[in-house]
Amino acid sequence: METTLCIIKPDAVKNGFEDKINEKIISSGLKIIKSKKTFLTEEIARDFYKEHASKPFFNELVEFIISGEVVVQVLEGDNAIKSYRSLMGATNPDEAEEGTLRKLFAESLSKNAVHGSDSIDNAKIEIDYFFQENEICSRTR
Ligand code: CMP
Repeated sequence: METTLCIIKPDAVKNGFEDKINEKIISSGLKIIKSKKTFLTEEIARDFYKEHASKPFFNELVEFIISGEVVVQVLEGDNAIKSYRSLMGATNPDEAEEGTLRKLFAESLSKNAVHGSDSIDNAKIEIDYFFQENEICSRTR
């Protein structure tokens, strides 16, 4: 059994897609074992996305993810990381397959509705951000 971090991003929360996204997650066979609504501070967002720090879109990415509430969740299931990434679809919704979360709910490449961990190591790091005793980001709804 594997776990992964899912973030429902500010665009999807603002557009009221939280429940619809979670219905798709559950019907894909994944379990939502933890969930909370929170805000990322700029400091947290810069650290969370630090692997993209040298990219030209980094500032846009940080500004967007702190622009509104997000829902952070831990998903559990067999091959949860791969399975959730496949449910999300391609990063750019224009390239995402029909029926995927990004095809259904994303506005654009930067406002792409959802985030998911990309490896076992990153899933552990990302889950610790939000759901451990010493979690970095603990503000809830
Ligand atoms: P996410 O899966 O959260 O991981 C990093 C994010 O960077 C990605 O989703 C996109 O929202 C964003 N991103 C990737 N490439 C670009 C780009 N070229 N322009 C703007 N945002 C991007």
